[in-house]
Amino acid sequence: MSRYLITSALPYINGIKHLGNLVGSQLPSDVTARYLRARGHEVMYICATDEHGTPAEIAAAKAGKPVAEYCAEMWAVQKDLAEGFGLSFDHFGRSSSERNRRLTQHFAKQLAEAGLIREVEEKMIYSPTDGRFLPDRYVEGTCPNCGYDSARGDQCENCTKQLDPTDLIEPRSAISGATDLEVRETKHLFLRQSAMAKQLEAWIDTKADWPILTTSIAKKWLRDGDGLQDRGITRDLDWGIPVQKGDAPWPGMEGKVFYVWFDAPIEYIGATAEWADAHELDDAAWQRWWRTDLGAEDVTYLQFMGKDNVPFHTLSFPATILGSGEPWKLVDYIKSFNYLNYQGGQFSTSKGRGVFQDQALAILPADYWRWWLMSNVPETSDSEFTWEMFQAGVNKDLADVLGNFVSRVTKFCRSKFGEAVPEGGAYGPAEEALIAELTTRVAAYQAHMDAYELRKSAAELRAIWVAGNEYLQAAAPWAAFKQDPDAAAATVRFALNLITLYAVLSEPFIPDFSARVRAAFGIDSQPWPEDIGAALAILEPGHAFTTPDVLFAKITDEQREGWEQQFAGA
Ligand code: MF3
Ligand code: ZN
Repeated sequence: MSRYLITSALPYINGIKHLGNLVGSQLPSDVTARYLRARGHEVMYICATDEHGTPAEIAAAKAGKPVAEYCAEMWAVQKDLAEGFGLSFDHFGRSSSERNRRLTQHFAKQLAEAGLIREVEEKMIYSPTDGRFLPDRYVEGTCPNCGYDSARGDQCENCTKQLDPTDLIEPRSAISGATDLEVRETKHLFLRQSAMAKQLEAWIDTKADWPILTTSIAKKWLRDGDGLQDRGITRDLDWGIPVQKGDAPWPGMEGKVFYVWFDAPIEYIGATAEWADAHELDDAAWQRWWRTDLGAEDVTYLQFMGKDNVPFHTLSFPATILGSGEPWKLVDYIKSFNYLNYQGGQFSTSKGRGVFQDQALAILPADYWRWWLMSNVPETSDSEFTWEMFQAGVNKDLADVLGNFVSRVTKFCRSKFGEAVPEGGAYGPAEEALIAELTTRVAAYQAHMDAYELRKSAAELRAIWVAGNEYLQAAAPWAAFKQDPDAAAATVRFALNLITLYAVLSEPFIPDFSARVRAAFGIDSQPWPEDIGAALAILEPGHAFTTPDVLFAKITDEQREGWEQQFAGA
């Protein structure tokens, strides 16, 4: 038994996420966490909302709510949705927690004492009317390039030109509309990543087993242009973690907060501490996952994220960890993902294009989404969601193959032998052959899961379901029943056992299916099948069951067309 710490990239608080967020971090991490638990390992699986920064402020302003209130509400919404999708986090925390505040301020102090922080004077737009500095996107005005009158200080939405707020003609505050803007000096903290570039590169070079997507992005940032740049880690905002050196004030930094990308990954640690607090455990309980001097030396730490998050996890967060000079746990494996597109374009939150998590659960149960998204996960390249492919995948794999198998076997048994496992004769060559095939396939499935190869794992699982279907088709107990009821009974006994084997093997991907099978067979928990032959003899003759209702309904053409229209966006 080993110990695995698993973190899923923290979703931004600003609204309900679409399927793209699920596919690239939350679902693959959940499948992995469930698999490792099923194999008997000790797992700590962590996620949280990423609550600070300008996007949270803007979203709260749009909702007409104080930002703290908005975040508390959206955290609850996101937590419910995570539960709806069966995400089995040990804790779903908040980056605005007290734990994260203290940890973030602590890391800043450690980095400062190590000489890894420098103070930089910068010129920024200040709005006396609003009483605050304005981040680039809080400044609006006329684009010098195309004349569009609502260009933002970072970019013109109309002609896409990258802008500096001082480029704008007649600049005004996006908050109040005030035009009396001034350029003022302000001081910021920069993390001296450049001083750590060699150390980071040497560390990444030891990770030969990481996905190419992960290492290629990290190396690009290390080598491109002038190499790894120092990074501003503070902002002139109200909402965030106040800049302090541990418990002590930071002279000259009053009224400033840490940049959201500085505190967010620290919340992986913070949320683990929140988990300990929620269970009334002491600090040692979470430190044994995070401190290599306090028990974490034998922990394997896995991170899951979309490719846009890779630079922060391969470079910035490790710079924080290494630069602290303290024995914090560094990540062991970074699994990153490409993007999922929607019907030939991108998912768009602003245009309402694509399927959002609440909508997805409103139209179909979680297993349908989990299965399709993971069997089409954008692992080696971007992948595409289309309603046609979704319909085809769900109908074929879940309804025709898996669901149909369960339903044929249980219904046939009920009608011929009643709702209990029949006795029948011994298993014969057909059963032996399937046991041999499944032994090979389950080993392959495990090898793919152990390598965090989700798409290959899903394909192997599908092949395991198909093999059972083919066996049933060939054994044809409905035909054998008249001449040889004992042989038919043996087939049914074997097939009923197969259903429970499918429940345990499929649980990482489709946990509701597994729960329903276990309920139907009155099984509380199932060990991982170390020996397939033995696993297929667990249900003994006489074991009662209830025939489950339809497990997976087919998606009709009418439904598909309706959804295509409903989610096409404005
Ligand atoms: N909120 C970021 C995003 O959705 C991810 C943050 S991951 C963290 O892209 F570790 F930094 F929190
Ligand atoms: Zn423009």
